[in-house]
Amino acid sequence: MEFGTVTGQVSRRTVVLGSLSAGLLTACGSGATANPSSPGPASVAASQGPVSPGLVPTSQVPLGGGAVVSDAQGNPVVVVQPAAGQYLAYSAVCPHAGCPVSEVSQNQIICPCHGSVFSSTDGSVLGGPAPSGLTPIPVKVSGGEVVAG
Ligand code: FES
Repeated sequence: MEFGTVTGQVSRRTVVLGSLSAGLLTACGSGATANPSSPGPASVAASQGPVSPGLVPTSQVPLGGGAVVSDAQGNPVVVVQPAAGQYLAYSAVCPHAGCPVSEVSQNQIICPCHGSVFSSTDGSVLGGPAPSGLTPIPVKVSGGEVVAG
């Protein structure tokens, strides 16, 4: 099934992104970005493997940024914090051709494959070829973690 293949690619990319982000966070502290040549607020936090029931600790979802993680079923999820203390989540699968979104910066979620850009506040398309927005996933904060539900 095609989606299974995409999910497999997402897992590998998530691991690579997580390793890269973790290294950057270690090297640069809390102000790290995915692009070390571009100073600015944190854009993507370290990715996590499937953690049940939590998706990611709130401390790893920077304000204006986000974290690409996997849910308990291994589906890619992008968790964002568009406003202080407001945590939202969307499917990280881009509706254009199924690539995983990989970066969140300044409340914009970016797909690296063909440049679609989505709003962190509602998942809507801000630019690029995506025909529709990202699919929202209900989440809440519990015990310092963003959890599905
Ligand atoms: S797959 Fe995301 S823009 Fe094409």
